[in-house]
Amino acid sequence: MSDITREEVIEYDKKYNQHPWLTGTADAIPIERAEGIYFWDYNGKKYYDMSSQLANVNLGYGNRDIIRAIQKQVEILPYIAPAHASGPRSELAKMLIDIAPDNMAKVFFTCGGSDANEAAIYAARTFTGRSKILSRYRSYHGSTLGSGNLSGDPRRFALEKPAASGFLKFFDPYVYRSDIKFNNDEEASAYYLGLLEQQIQYESPDQIAAIEVETITGANGVIIPPNGYLQGLRKLCDKYGILLICDEVMAGFGRTGKMFSFEHWGIKPDIISFAKGVTCGYVQLGGIIISKEIAKYFEDKVFLYGLTYSGHSLACAAGVASVNYYSEHKILDHVNEVGKVFGELLEEIKEKHKCVGDVRYIGLFGAVELVKDKEKRTPIVPYGYDEKKTMAQIQGMLKERGFSAFGRENNINVTPPLIITEEELREAFKILDEVLTIVDKEFI
Ligand SMILES: Cc1ncc(COP(=O)(O)O)c(C=O)c1O
Repeated sequence: MSDITREEVIEYDKKYNQHPWLTGTADAIPIERAEGIYFWDYNGKKYYDMSSQLANVNLGYGNRDIIRAIQKQVEILPYIAPAHASGPRSELAKMLIDIAPDNMAKVFFTCGGSDANEAAIYAARTFTGRSKILSRYRSYHGSTLGSGNLSGDPRRFALEKPAASGFLKFFDPYVYRSDIKFNNDEEASAYYLGLLEQQIQYESPDQIAAIEVETITGANGVIIPPNGYLQGLRKLCDKYGILLICDEVMAGFGRTGKMFSFEHWGIKPDIISFAKGVTCGYVQLGGIIISKEIAKYFEDKVFLYGLTYSGHSLACAAGVASVNYYSEHKILDHVNEVGKVFGELLEEIKEKHKCVGDVRYIGLFGAVELVKDKEKRTPIVPYGYDEKKTMAQIQGMLKERGFSAFGRENNINVTPPLIITEEELREAFKILDEVLTIVDKEFI
């Protein structure tokens, strides 16, 4: 525990910390402690953590099972180099293969989501001998060189100077923002997959190693694929011998009411990348789960990718405790139950506020898309360009009132801890309602 005062926290932070995605002089709210779905700043002000921080603190704060598992492990073996076998690494790998689809064989652990996707890129290119990787425009896969180039959202631009080769983008099945009015999900899926197939042919299928998607786009506004899309994507990949990589970093581990979100559509990827909810932020961990075929390929070939902290003992111990907690405490059932109320509350918000163009949700994974004109669906800020910092102001008003969330472009993402109760949800939504009332009057 740090013993410095509130004033020192603020002063040293501003002087010595460079925060990600912020300017060097940005003011960061100093946070002192947290419990359950709440955290408190140094003035004792309480916040509803309506984003589970970065959609990772899925089981909330103060989870005794995870804390005790880390405490126990740090006494026995805090760290051992990745070439060794260790209790937590072996146990967690087995647990993940047990919950993954039956075509999966092995786990390679990383420290988070970005390096998980780096490992996925490496494995896919090496296994197929092909170089191109296709991913979608409205996606985020990380901010290391490879995962950043794989990402589609504007955060990639900084890492594209120059752009790494072999990363190509295609359009998301973002039905709400489509000019075409589809009659049903299947029609929408066929349209987007048809475009993608043309692109695959233009790029030469035998040069494409993998198509990587966030199964459900997370940070960029919880874009849920229309029914049939993922099944069609799986078929396209099979047709051309392309690997399908599902990035489950944000959507995995119960967020949508299933352990992995692709289970909603019954598909089996070739590689799954994961992080966040596997340890719920208590210690950082990520990784990829690879299929039997890919694991077999590496049986007699060296996996030429590694990290000092791959499969860190404390992280894996936190992972074992978290994954056990999900099942022992029936977290998925809870998400599905409370998720119904979550959906109703979001629909009420959409009905009531003229600034809300769309709400999208599945389990406890939700987004509120803000518009200037509901009829025309004009986003409240243009894509990639929020000159007046409108969204930051709106997020600021929410935070001032104790509703902590995050979002990108014209979306407010709402991804509370999966342990949230119906009462807590209803209370927090009163704040959202209050702020959207101000947005209706003063921002559009
Ligand atoms: C879908 C997805 N993939 C990858 C990442 C990168 O993970 P990390 O920040 O742990 O490197 C994120 C982070 O938000 C994410 O949402």
